[in-house]
Amino acid sequence: MNSRLITCFASASLVLVALGSVVAMTWFSAQHPALAADTTMNASTSPSEQRAAAKRRQREPLLPLYVSECGDCHVPYAPRFLPASSWQRLMTSLPEHFGSDASLSEPTLGELSTYLVDNARTPRAKDPDPAPLRITEMSWWLRQHDEISERRWNNPRIPSRAACDACHAKADEGRFGHGKIPRMPKP
Ligand code: HEC
Ligand code: HEC
Repeated sequence: MNSRLITCFASASLVLVALGSVVAMTWFSAQHPALAADTTMNASTSPSEQRAAAKRRQREPLLPLYVSECGDCHVPYAPRFLPASSWQRLMTSLPEHFGSDASLSEPTLGELSTYLVDNARTPRAKDPDPAPLRITEMSWWLRQHDEISERRWNNPRIPSRAACDACHAKADEGRFGHGKIPRMPKP
């Protein structure tokens, strides 16, 4: 082998090594996006700031587009009741939505998904299911409603547990003060 050929091989392998490390670094950051995101988020918002922001959001009125698109068949459920992972599951399966077709046009779907995810419940470590499809299956909801007897749930004025407005007069505005269970109709 002459020396020209050797230099040629040597520089070719250097180029390969350099390319390899670029590929490896890109792969690593693609696999670990949370590493970068986490450090910046924790530094800026303390738990008490997060709670204050959640309180503020509770008083904000629901987005009118959300009310008109997602409030026809049931009350427009306030975004703060479900974590972002739940809204993502719901919004990517609208053609098969609890036995109904709740499809939206592409731009509306995008706008409402962003709204729901941005205003979603902060996930808690103790939530057993990270992405439930129903509010009425979440442990906080079950705890708030565990004193309501089966007989009262069978009241025909309460069509479903998901019909929040049967008991919460301002549910359609996303406001939940004290629930008032309707009286049983006279036989
Ligand atoms: C065509 C009617 C229809 C439309 C439109 C619709 N839904 Fe529903 N949705 C339903 C039905 C039916 C249920 C089941 C209700 C029940 O169990 O009583 C449901 C249940 C839900 C539940 C679970 C409630 C619970 O906790 O049990 C969520 C959350 C929900 N819908 C979100 C949405 C969102 C977000 C939109 C707008 C993108 C939407 N829905 C639009 C029919 C609809
Ligand atoms: C059968 C009537 C009934 C239905 C239906 C119902 N609730 Fe309630 N809810 C109550 C009662 C009663 C309470 C507990 C008493 C109280 O604190 O008001 C309560 C408490 C709550 C609370 C706590 C209020 C507070 O700050 O003290 C929230 C939030 C809530 N419900 C949300 C919902 C949502 C969301 C739905 C629908 C997915 C729903 N509820 C459906 C009757 C009902």
